[in-house]
Amino acid sequence: MKKNPTTCRASRSVILLLLAIVTVESSTGGNFDIKRLDFPDGFLFGTATSAYQIEGAYLEDGSGPSNWDHFAAVGGNLSTGDNGYITDDYYHRYMEDIEIMHSLGVNAYRFSISWSRVLPKGKFGEVNQAAIIFYNKIIDNILLRGIQPFVTIHHFDYPQELEDRYGGWLSPSMQEDFVYFAEICFKNFADRVKHWATINEPNLFVEMAYVRAAFPPARCSPPYGNCAQGNSDVEPLTAVHNMLLAHAKASKLYGEQFKLEVDGMIGIIVSAFMYIPLTDDKEDKEAAKRALAFDVAWILDPVVFGDYPPEMRRYHGKELPYFSSDERALLRDSIDFIGINHYSTFYAKDCIYSSCICNDSSCTKGNDRPLRGFVSTFVERNGVPIGEPTGMIRFFVVPKGMEGIVLYVKERYHNKAIFVTENGYSSPDNEDESYQHDVKRINFHKSYLYYLARAISNGADVRGYFIWTLMDDFEWRSGYNVKFGLYRIHHPTLNRIPKLSAGWYRYFLSNTSSSDIESSDYILSDEKHLAY
Ligand code: NOJ
Repeated sequence: MKKNPTTCRASRSVILLLLAIVTVESSTGGNFDIKRLDFPDGFLFGTATSAYQIEGAYLEDGSGPSNWDHFAAVGGNLSTGDNGYITDDYYHRYMEDIEIMHSLGVNAYRFSISWSRVLPKGKFGEVNQAAIIFYNKIIDNILLRGIQPFVTIHHFDYPQELEDRYGGWLSPSMQEDFVYFAEICFKNFADRVKHWATINEPNLFVEMAYVRAAFPPARCSPPYGNCAQGNSDVEPLTAVHNMLLAHAKASKLYGEQFKLEVDGMIGIIVSAFMYIPLTDDKEDKEAAKRALAFDVAWILDPVVFGDYPPEMRRYHGKELPYFSSDERALLRDSIDFIGINHYSTFYAKDCIYSSCICNDSSCTKGNDRPLRGFVSTFVERNGVPIGEPTGMIRFFVVPKGMEGIVLYVKERYHNKAIFVTENGYSSPDNEDESYQHDVKRINFHKSYLYYLARAISNGADVRGYFIWTLMDDFEWRSGYNVKFGLYRIHHPTLNRIPKLSAGWYRYFLSNTSSSDIESSDYILSDEKHLAY
Protein backbone atom coordinates (compact mmCIF):
# COMPACT_ATOMS: atom_id res chain seq x y z
CA MET A 1 0.00 0.00 0.00
CA LYS A 2 1.25 3.38 -1.01
CA LYS A 3 1.74 5.83 1.85
CA ASN A 4 0.08 9.18 1.63
CA PRO A 5 3.04 11.61 1.09
CA THR A 6 1.57 14.27 3.38
CA THR A 7 1.15 11.82 6.26
CA CYS A 8 4.63 10.57 5.55
CA ARG A 9 6.15 14.09 5.65
CA ALA A 10 4.18 14.92 8.77
CA SER A 11 5.28 11.80 10.61
CA ARG A 12 8.87 12.46 9.51
CA SER A 13 8.76 15.93 11.02
CA VAL A 14 7.30 14.53 14.23
CA ILE A 15 10.13 12.01 14.37
CA LEU A 16 12.69 14.74 13.68
CA LEU A 17 11.17 16.92 16.35
CA LEU A 18 11.19 14.06 18.84
CA LEU A 19 14.78 13.31 17.93
CA ALA A 20 15.70 16.93 18.49
CA ILE A 21 13.99 16.91 21.89
CA VAL A 22 15.65 13.66 22.86
CA THR A 23 19.06 15.03 21.83
CA VAL A 24 18.59 18.19 23.81
CA GLU A 25 17.18 16.43 26.86
CA SER A 26 19.74 13.63 26.89
CA SER A 27 22.24 13.91 29.70
CA THR A 28 25.05 12.52 27.63
CA GLY A 29 24.64 14.19 24.24
CA GLY A 30 26.84 17.06 23.17
CA ASN A 31 24.30 18.81 21.06
CA PHE A 32 23.36 21.74 23.24
CA ASP A 33 22.87 24.94 21.35
CA ILE A 34 24.03 27.64 23.72
CA LYS A 35 25.77 30.95 23.25
CA ARG A 36 26.79 33.90 25.33
CA LEU A 37 23.96 36.00 23.92
CA ASP A 38 21.45 33.63 25.57
CA PHE A 39 22.40 35.27 28.90
CA PRO A 40 21.38 38.71 30.13
CA ASP A 41 23.50 41.83 29.65
CA GLY A 42 26.04 42.32 32.38
CA PHE A 43 26.02 38.60 33.21
CA LEU A 44 29.29 37.59 34.91
CA PHE A 45 31.17 34.74 33.30
CA GLY A 46 34.19 33.69 35.29
CA THR A 47 36.40 31.02 36.70
CA ALA A 48 36.55 30.13 40.39
CA THR A 49 39.43 29.08 42.65
CA SER A 50 40.14 28.96 46.37
CA ALA A 51 43.26 30.02 48.26
CA TYR A 52 44.37 26.75 49.82
CA GLN A 53 43.78 24.84 46.61
CA ILE A 54 46.12 26.92 44.44
CA GLU A 55 48.37 29.31 46.39
CA GLY A 56 51.07 27.13 47.93
CA ALA A 57 53.81 29.28 49.54
CA TYR A 58 53.39 27.43 52.82
CA LEU A 59 54.49 29.59 55.78
CA GLU A 60 56.06 32.03 53.35
CA ASP A 61 56.15 35.82 53.87
CA GLY A 62 54.65 35.59 57.34
CA SER A 63 51.79 33.21 56.53
CA GLY A 64 50.70 30.87 59.36
CA PRO A 65 49.70 27.18 59.43
CA SER A 66 46.10 26.41 58.54
CA ASN A 67 43.77 23.59 59.56
CA TRP A 68 44.51 21.98 56.19
CA ASP A 69 48.30 22.16 56.60
CA HIS A 70 47.83 20.46 59.95
CA PHE A 71 45.47 17.81 58.59
CA ALA A 72 47.60 16.99 55.53
CA ALA A 73 50.71 16.64 57.67
CA VAL A 74 49.21 13.71 59.58
CA GLY A 75 49.98 10.45 57.79
CA GLY A 76 46.90 8.63 56.58
CA ASN A 77 44.57 11.64 56.49
CA LEU A 78 45.15 11.97 52.76
CA SER A 79 45.64 8.60 51.14
CA THR A 80 47.64 10.26 48.38
CA GLY A 81 50.04 11.86 50.88
CA ASP A 82 49.45 15.20 49.15
CA ASN A 83 49.29 18.65 50.72
CA GLY A 84 48.87 22.26 49.66
CA TYR A 85 52.41 23.38 50.49
CA ILE A 86 53.18 24.18 46.84
CA THR A 87 50.10 23.18 44.85
CA ASP A 88 49.91 25.46 41.76
CA ASP A 89 52.35 27.99 43.23
CA TYR A 90 49.86 30.69 42.39
CA TYR A 91 51.32 32.87 45.14
CA HIS A 92 54.30 33.39 42.84
CA ARG A 93 52.66 32.86 39.44
CA TYR A 94 49.45 34.81 39.84
CA MET A 95 50.35 37.25 37.05
CA GLU A 96 50.55 34.42 34.57
CA ASP A 97 47.17 33.15 35.75
CA ILE A 98 45.64 36.59 35.47
CA GLU A 99 46.90 36.79 31.88
CA ILE A 100 45.39 33.40 31.20
CA MET A 101 42.01 34.54 32.51
CA HIS A 102 42.28 37.71 30.48
CA SER A 103 42.98 35.66 27.36
CA LEU A 104 39.88 33.55 28.05
CA GLY A 105 37.80 36.71 28.08
CA VAL A 106 36.16 36.25 31.50
CA ASN A 107 34.71 39.35 33.12
CA ALA A 108 34.86 38.01 36.69
CA TYR A 109 37.14 35.95 38.88
CA ARG A 110 36.05 34.25 42.07
CA PHE A 111 38.86 33.61 44.55
CA SER A 112 39.17 33.31 48.29
CA ILE A 113 41.43 34.95 50.85
CA SER A 114 43.61 32.75 52.98
CA TRP A 115 42.69 33.49 56.58
CA SER A 116 45.97 32.11 57.93
CA ARG A 117 47.99 34.17 55.43
CA VAL A 118 46.29 37.38 56.53
CA LEU A 119 45.98 36.49 60.23
CA PRO A 120 48.41 33.69 61.08
CA LYS A 121 46.99 33.54 64.61
CA GLY A 122 43.49 34.79 63.99
CA LYS A 123 42.63 37.76 66.14
CA PHE A 124 45.32 36.68 68.61
CA GLY A 125 48.14 38.08 66.49
CA GLU A 126 49.15 40.70 63.96
CA VAL A 127 47.88 41.31 60.45
CA ASN A 128 50.40 40.01 57.92
CA GLN A 129 50.96 42.98 55.61
CA ALA A 130 52.60 40.79 52.94
CA ALA A 131 49.24 39.05 52.51
CA ILE A 132 47.41 42.35 52.12
CA ILE A 133 49.90 43.40 49.45
CA PHE A 134 49.45 40.06 47.65
CA TYR A 135 45.65 40.29 47.46
CA ASN A 136 45.82 43.97 46.50
CA LYS A 137 48.02 43.04 43.56
CA ILE A 138 45.52 40.42 42.43
CA ILE A 139 42.57 42.78 42.71
CA ASP A 140 44.34 45.66 40.97
CA ASN A 141 45.65 43.52 38.16
CA ILE A 142 42.40 41.80 37.36
CA LEU A 143 40.53 45.11 37.42
CA LEU A 144 43.07 46.54 34.98
CA ARG A 145 42.08 43.74 32.62
CA GLY A 146 38.36 44.31 32.99
CA ILE A 147 37.83 41.36 35.36
CA GLN A 148 35.61 41.89 38.43
CA PRO A 149 36.83 40.38 41.70
CA PHE A 150 34.26 38.09 43.39
CA VAL A 151 35.75 37.37 46.79
CA THR A 152 35.00 34.49 49.14
CA ILE A 153 36.15 35.38 52.63
CA HIS A 154 36.25 31.84 54.02
CA HIS A 155 36.66 28.75 51.84
CA PHE A 156 37.34 25.75 54.17
CA ASP A 157 40.76 26.94 55.48
CA TYR A 158 41.37 28.81 58.74
CA PRO A 159 44.29 29.34 61.12
CA GLN A 160 45.14 26.17 63.03
CA GLU A 161 45.51 28.45 66.06
CA LEU A 162 41.71 28.74 66.21
CA GLU A 163 41.26 24.99 66.16
CA ASP A 164 43.86 24.56 68.90
CA ARG A 165 42.51 27.33 71.10
CA TYR A 166 38.80 26.57 71.09
CA GLY A 167 37.87 23.91 68.51
CA GLY A 168 37.18 26.08 65.46
CA TRP A 169 33.58 26.20 64.24
CA LEU A 170 32.29 24.15 67.16
CA SER A 171 32.83 27.20 69.35
CA PRO A 172 30.82 30.45 69.31
CA SER A 173 34.20 32.24 69.68
CA MET A 174 34.75 31.54 65.98
CA GLN A 175 31.97 34.02 65.16
CA GLU A 176 33.95 36.97 66.51
CA ASP A 177 37.16 35.72 64.95
CA PHE A 178 35.45 35.50 61.58
CA VAL A 179 34.01 39.01 61.85
CA TYR A 180 37.45 40.29 62.82
CA PHE A 181 38.92 38.69 59.67
CA ALA A 182 36.06 39.89 57.48
CA GLU A 183 36.51 43.45 58.73
CA ILE A 184 40.19 43.39 57.75
CA CYS A 185 39.19 42.16 54.28
CA PHE A 186 36.52 44.86 53.90
CA LYS A 187 38.84 47.63 55.15
CA ASN A 188 41.58 46.69 52.72
CA PHE A 189 39.68 45.57 49.65
CA ALA A 190 36.04 46.70 49.73
CA ASP A 191 36.77 49.91 47.84
CA ARG A 192 37.35 47.77 44.72
CA VAL A 193 35.47 44.52 45.41
CA LYS A 194 31.74 44.67 44.74
CA HIS A 195 30.85 41.01 45.30
CA TRP A 196 31.52 39.35 48.65
CA ALA A 197 30.65 35.83 49.69
CA THR A 198 31.09 35.34 53.40
CA ILE A 199 31.42 31.54 53.65
CA ASN A 200 31.73 28.80 51.07
CA GLU A 201 29.46 25.74 51.47
CA PRO A 202 28.87 25.54 55.24
CA ASN A 203 26.58 22.54 54.59
CA LEU A 204 29.21 20.51 52.75
CA PHE A 205 32.02 21.62 55.05
CA VAL A 206 30.33 20.30 58.20
CA GLU A 207 29.38 17.04 56.49
CA MET A 208 33.01 16.46 55.57
CA ALA A 209 34.50 17.74 58.84
CA TYR A 210 32.12 16.29 61.45
CA VAL A 211 30.31 13.39 59.76
CA ARG A 212 32.68 11.81 57.28
CA ALA A 213 35.91 12.94 58.95
CA ALA A 214 37.26 13.70 55.49
CA PHE A 215 38.12 17.34 56.24
CA PRO A 216 39.82 18.72 59.34
CA PRO A 217 39.18 18.46 62.26
CA ALA A 218 38.11 14.96 61.13
CA ARG A 219 35.58 14.17 63.84
CA CYS A 220 32.76 11.64 63.65
CA SER A 221 30.72 9.04 65.50
CA PRO A 222 28.76 5.87 64.61
CA PRO A 223 26.88 5.00 62.46
CA TYR A 224 28.71 7.44 60.17
CA GLY A 225 32.21 6.40 61.15
CA ASN A 226 34.47 5.50 64.04
CA CYS A 227 36.61 8.45 65.05
CA ALA A 228 38.47 9.02 68.29
CA GLN A 229 36.25 12.05 68.93
CA GLY A 230 33.07 13.59 67.67
CA ASN A 231 29.29 13.48 67.66
CA SER A 232 27.96 13.43 64.13
CA ASP A 233 24.33 13.91 65.15
CA VAL A 234 25.04 17.17 66.92
CA GLU A 235 28.34 18.75 65.82
CA PRO A 236 27.35 19.55 62.22
CA LEU A 237 24.33 21.43 63.56
CA THR A 238 26.44 23.35 66.09
CA ALA A 239 29.09 24.28 63.53
CA VAL A 240 26.52 25.49 60.96
CA HIS A 241 24.83 27.52 63.70
CA ASN A 242 28.10 29.32 64.42
CA MET A 243 28.83 29.78 60.73
CA LEU A 244 25.41 31.30 60.08
CA LEU A 245 25.75 33.75 62.96
CA ALA A 246 29.28 34.62 61.85
CA HIS A 247 27.93 35.27 58.36
CA ALA A 248 25.11 37.46 59.66
CA LYS A 249 27.41 39.56 61.84
CA ALA A 250 29.89 40.11 59.00
CA SER A 251 27.05 40.96 56.64
CA LYS A 252 25.68 43.55 59.09
CA LEU A 253 29.11 45.14 59.40
CA TYR A 254 29.46 45.25 55.62
CA GLY A 255 26.02 46.78 55.21
CA GLU A 256 26.66 49.47 57.83
CA GLN A 257 30.18 50.49 56.91
CA PHE A 258 31.23 49.43 53.43
CA LYS A 259 28.42 48.54 51.09
CA LEU A 260 27.03 51.94 50.15
CA GLU A 261 30.32 53.42 49.04
CA VAL A 262 30.66 50.98 46.15
CA ASP A 263 27.09 49.73 45.79
CA GLY A 264 28.35 46.26 46.68
CA MET A 265 26.60 42.96 47.31
CA ILE A 266 27.16 40.32 49.97
CA GLY A 267 25.95 36.75 50.02
CA ILE A 268 26.65 33.21 51.15
CA ILE A 269 27.51 30.16 49.04
CA VAL A 270 25.76 26.85 49.47
CA SER A 271 26.57 23.41 48.14
CA ALA A 272 23.48 22.79 46.02
CA PHE A 273 22.95 19.26 44.77
CA MET A 274 19.59 18.59 43.18
CA TYR A 275 17.43 15.76 44.56
CA ILE A 276 14.76 13.96 42.54
CA PRO A 277 12.48 11.12 43.70
CA LEU A 278 13.72 7.57 43.19
CA THR A 279 10.20 6.41 42.32
CA ASP A 280 6.85 8.02 41.54
CA ASP A 281 5.60 7.21 45.04
CA LYS A 282 4.36 10.20 46.94
CA GLU A 283 6.68 9.26 49.85
CA ASP A 284 9.75 9.50 47.61
CA LYS A 285 8.52 12.79 46.16
CA GLU A 286 8.27 14.12 49.71
CA ALA A 287 11.71 12.66 50.45
CA ALA A 288 13.27 14.61 47.56
CA LYS A 289 11.75 17.83 48.92
CA ARG A 290 12.94 16.97 52.41
CA ALA A 291 16.46 16.30 51.15
CA LEU A 292 16.56 19.76 49.61
CA ALA A 293 15.32 21.31 52.85
CA PHE A 294 17.85 19.44 55.01
CA ASP A 295 20.71 20.31 52.70
CA VAL A 296 20.16 23.59 50.84
CA ALA A 297 17.43 25.30 52.89
CA TRP A 298 19.32 24.45 56.10
CA ILE A 299 21.67 27.29 55.13
CA LEU A 300 19.42 29.52 53.05
CA ASP A 301 16.21 29.68 55.14
CA PRO A 302 18.06 31.29 58.08
CA VAL A 303 19.76 33.95 55.95
CA VAL A 304 16.55 34.84 54.11
CA PHE A 305 13.75 34.17 56.62
CA GLY A 306 15.70 34.23 59.89
CA ASP A 307 15.22 30.60 61.01
CA TYR A 308 15.85 26.98 60.13
CA PRO A 309 13.44 25.28 57.71
CA PRO A 310 10.20 24.12 59.36
CA GLU A 311 10.90 20.67 57.88
CA MET A 312 14.08 20.43 59.96
CA ARG A 313 12.44 21.78 63.08
CA ARG A 314 9.78 19.11 62.74
CA TYR A 315 12.15 16.15 62.67
CA HIS A 316 15.03 17.30 64.85
CA GLY A 317 14.66 17.43 68.57
CA LYS A 318 16.43 19.93 70.78
CA GLU A 319 19.62 19.06 68.90
CA LEU A 320 18.80 21.69 66.30
CA PRO A 321 19.92 24.92 68.01
CA TYR A 322 17.54 27.85 68.47
CA PHE A 323 18.15 31.45 67.44
CA SER A 324 17.17 34.22 69.86
CA SER A 325 14.81 36.85 68.49
CA ASP A 326 17.74 39.27 68.09
CA GLU A 327 19.65 36.63 66.17
CA ARG A 328 16.68 35.93 63.93
CA ALA A 329 16.45 39.64 63.12
CA LEU A 330 20.17 39.74 62.39
CA LEU A 331 19.97 36.73 60.08
CA ARG A 332 16.81 37.73 58.23
CA ASP A 333 17.64 39.21 54.82
CA SER A 334 21.35 39.10 55.56
CA ILE A 335 22.14 38.39 51.91
CA ASP A 336 21.90 40.31 48.64
CA PHE A 337 22.51 37.16 46.60
CA ILE A 338 22.57 33.42 46.90
CA GLY A 339 25.65 31.62 45.60
CA ILE A 340 25.05 28.06 44.49
CA ASN A 341 27.74 25.51 43.76
CA HIS A 342 26.03 22.92 41.61
CA TYR A 343 27.60 19.75 40.25
CA SER A 344 25.21 16.82 40.31
CA THR A 345 21.84 15.27 41.19
CA PHE A 346 20.82 12.40 43.49
CA TYR A 347 17.79 10.14 43.64
CA ALA A 348 16.03 10.41 46.98
CA LYS A 349 14.22 7.56 48.74
CA ASP A 350 11.96 7.94 51.74
CA CYS A 351 13.01 6.25 54.98
CA ILE A 352 10.11 7.29 57.18
CA TYR A 353 7.39 5.11 55.72
CA SER A 354 9.58 2.54 54.05
CA SER A 355 12.39 0.57 55.51
CA CYS A 356 15.83 1.79 54.43
CA ILE A 357 18.17 -0.57 56.12
CA CYS A 358 21.60 0.43 54.92
CA ASN A 359 23.94 -2.48 54.72
CA ASP A 360 25.90 -1.81 51.58
CA SER A 361 27.76 1.15 50.13
CA SER A 362 24.98 2.14 47.70
CA CYS A 363 22.84 3.79 50.38
CA THR A 364 23.36 6.71 52.72
CA LYS A 365 24.74 5.94 56.16
CA GLY A 366 22.56 7.32 58.92
CA ASN A 367 19.50 7.56 56.66
CA ASP A 368 17.34 6.63 59.64
CA ARG A 369 18.45 9.71 61.56
CA PRO A 370 17.21 13.31 61.63
CA LEU A 371 20.51 14.66 60.26
CA ARG A 372 19.74 12.97 56.94
CA GLY A 373 16.07 13.97 57.04
CA PHE A 374 15.23 10.24 56.92
CA VAL A 375 16.23 10.14 53.28
CA SER A 376 18.56 7.77 51.47
CA THR A 377 20.25 8.99 48.32
CA PHE A 378 21.24 6.95 45.29
CA VAL A 379 23.09 7.55 42.05
CA GLU A 380 21.36 4.80 40.11
CA ARG A 381 17.89 3.37 39.58
CA ASN A 382 17.32 -0.24 38.57
CA GLY A 383 21.00 -0.52 37.81
CA VAL A 384 21.02 2.50 35.48
CA PRO A 385 23.25 5.39 36.58
CA ILE A 386 21.61 8.81 36.91
CA GLY A 387 24.04 10.22 34.32
CA GLU A 388 27.52 9.76 32.95
CA PRO A 389 30.18 9.21 35.60
CA THR A 390 32.88 11.78 36.36
CA GLY A 391 36.13 11.67 38.30
CA MET A 392 34.26 12.20 41.60
CA ILE A 393 32.63 9.06 42.91
CA ARG A 394 29.10 10.34 43.47
CA PHE A 395 29.09 13.14 40.90
CA PHE A 396 27.29 12.20 37.67
CA VAL A 397 26.48 14.39 34.69
CA VAL A 398 22.85 15.46 35.06
CA PRO A 399 22.48 18.78 33.20
CA LYS A 400 18.77 19.16 33.89
CA GLY A 401 19.57 19.30 37.60
CA MET A 402 20.91 22.80 37.00
CA GLU A 403 17.49 24.02 35.95
CA GLY A 404 15.87 22.12 38.81
CA ILE A 405 18.05 23.57 41.55
CA VAL A 406 17.92 27.12 40.22
CA LEU A 407 14.13 27.04 40.00
CA TYR A 408 13.90 25.53 43.49
CA VAL A 409 16.02 28.38 44.89
CA LYS A 410 14.13 30.95 42.84
CA GLU A 411 10.77 29.79 44.13
CA ARG A 412 11.64 29.21 47.75
CA TYR A 413 13.47 32.53 48.10
CA HIS A 414 11.16 34.77 46.09
CA ASN A 415 13.53 35.26 43.22
CA LYS A 416 16.59 36.55 45.09
CA ALA A 417 19.58 37.20 42.86
CA ILE A 418 21.55 34.02 42.23
CA PHE A 419 25.13 33.44 41.12
CA VAL A 420 26.23 29.99 40.07
CA THR A 421 29.49 30.33 41.96
CA GLU A 422 30.75 26.88 40.90
CA ASN A 423 29.97 24.30 38.25
CA GLY A 424 32.56 21.94 36.90
CA TYR A 425 33.56 18.55 35.61
CA SER A 426 36.35 16.32 36.88
CA SER A 427 37.75 13.95 34.31
CA PRO A 428 37.52 10.27 35.13
CA ASP A 429 40.50 9.69 32.86
CA ASN A 430 43.51 11.62 34.01
CA GLU A 431 46.31 10.19 32.00
CA ASP A 432 45.14 9.31 28.53
CA GLU A 433 44.74 11.62 25.59
CA SER A 434 41.23 12.69 26.54
CA TYR A 435 42.65 14.35 29.65
CA GLN A 436 43.83 17.28 27.56
CA HIS A 437 41.41 16.75 24.68
CA ASP A 438 38.58 17.10 27.20
CA VAL A 439 35.53 17.00 24.97
CA LYS A 440 33.48 15.64 27.87
CA ARG A 441 34.20 18.73 29.94
CA ILE A 442 33.07 20.95 27.05
CA ASN A 443 29.86 18.93 26.69
CA PHE A 444 29.32 19.19 30.41
CA HIS A 445 29.50 22.99 30.46
CA LYS A 446 27.43 23.44 27.33
CA SER A 447 24.69 21.19 28.66
CA TYR A 448 24.57 22.76 32.14
CA LEU A 449 24.63 26.25 30.60
CA TYR A 450 21.75 25.25 28.36
CA TYR A 451 19.60 24.37 31.38
CA LEU A 452 20.78 27.45 33.24
CA ALA A 453 19.59 29.59 30.33
CA ARG A 454 16.25 27.76 30.48
CA ALA A 455 15.91 28.58 34.17
CA ILE A 456 16.64 32.23 33.35
CA SER A 457 14.02 32.26 30.63
CA ASN A 458 11.64 30.85 33.27
CA GLY A 459 12.23 33.97 35.32
CA ALA A 460 15.17 33.12 37.59
CA ASP A 461 17.34 36.15 38.37
CA VAL A 462 20.72 34.52 37.73
CA ARG A 463 23.56 37.02 37.44
CA GLY A 464 26.68 34.95 36.86
CA TYR A 465 28.32 31.60 36.20
CA PHE A 466 31.77 30.53 37.37
CA ILE A 467 33.54 27.47 36.04
CA TRP A 468 35.21 25.35 38.68
CA THR A 469 38.07 25.64 38.09
CA LEU A 470 40.71 27.61 36.26
CA MET A 471 43.45 24.99 36.60
CA ASP A 472 43.92 21.57 38.15
CA ASP A 473 44.59 22.01 41.85
CA PHE A 474 44.60 20.46 45.32
CA GLU A 475 41.18 18.79 45.45
CA TRP A 476 41.01 18.51 49.25
CA ARG A 477 40.86 14.90 50.39
CA SER A 478 41.47 13.63 46.85
CA GLY A 479 44.74 15.54 46.63
CA TYR A 480 45.93 15.97 43.04
CA ASN A 481 44.09 12.91 41.73
CA VAL A 482 40.87 14.68 40.85
CA LYS A 483 41.15 17.31 38.13
CA PHE A 484 38.54 19.95 37.38
CA GLY A 485 40.71 22.51 35.57
CA LEU A 486 40.42 24.19 32.21
CA TYR A 487 44.22 24.16 32.40
CA ARG A 488 46.47 21.30 33.24
CA ILE A 489 49.44 21.77 35.56
CA HIS A 490 52.53 20.10 34.24
CA HIS A 491 54.73 18.53 36.90
CA PRO A 492 57.41 19.32 37.88
CA THR A 493 57.55 22.57 35.89
CA LEU A 494 54.11 23.69 37.09
CA ASN A 495 53.53 25.13 33.63
CA ARG A 496 49.91 25.82 32.79
CA ILE A 497 48.79 23.95 29.68
CA PRO A 498 45.41 24.72 28.13
CA LYS A 499 43.00 21.84 27.70
CA LEU A 500 40.57 21.92 24.81
CA SER A 501 37.91 23.23 27.22
CA ALA A 502 39.95 26.40 27.84
CA GLY A 503 39.78 27.10 24.12
CA TRP A 504 36.07 26.32 24.10
CA TYR A 505 35.41 28.76 26.98
CA ARG A 506 37.33 31.49 25.15
CA TYR A 507 35.36 30.76 21.99
CA PHE A 508 32.07 30.71 23.87
CA LEU A 509 32.85 34.04 25.56
CA SER A 510 33.95 35.78 22.39
CA ASN A 511 31.30 34.52 20.01
CA THR A 512 27.67 35.18 19.52
CA SER A 513 27.04 31.91 17.74
CA SER A 514 27.07 28.40 19.11
CA SER A 515 29.78 26.06 17.95
CA ASP A 516 30.81 22.55 17.04
CA ILE A 517 32.46 20.48 19.66
CA GLU A 518 35.54 19.75 17.59
CA SER A 519 36.13 23.30 16.39
CA SER A 520 39.80 23.95 15.69
CA ASP A 521 39.21 27.43 17.11
CA TYR A 522 39.45 25.84 20.56
CA ILE A 523 43.03 24.78 20.29
CA LEU A 524 45.17 27.22 22.21
CA SER A 525 48.87 27.02 21.68
CA ASP A 526 50.89 26.44 24.84
CA GLU A 527 53.48 29.00 23.84
CA LYS A 528 50.95 31.79 23.90
CA HIS A 529 50.04 31.04 27.49
CA LEU A 530 53.46 30.19 28.77
CA ALA A 531 54.95 33.51 27.74
CA TYR A 532 55.29 34.69 31.33
C1 NOJ B 1 33.16 22.74 45.98
C2 NOJ B 1 34.28 23.42 46.71
O1 NOJ B 1 33.91 24.74 46.98
C3 NOJ B 1 35.60 23.38 45.99
O2 NOJ B 1 36.60 23.79 46.87
C4 NOJ B 1 35.85 21.99 45.45
O3 NOJ B 1 37.11 21.86 44.90
C5 NOJ B 1 34.77 21.67 44.45
N1 NOJ B 1 33.49 21.67 45.13
C6 NOJ B 1 34.95 20.34 43.74
O4 NOJ B 1 34.84 19.30 44.65
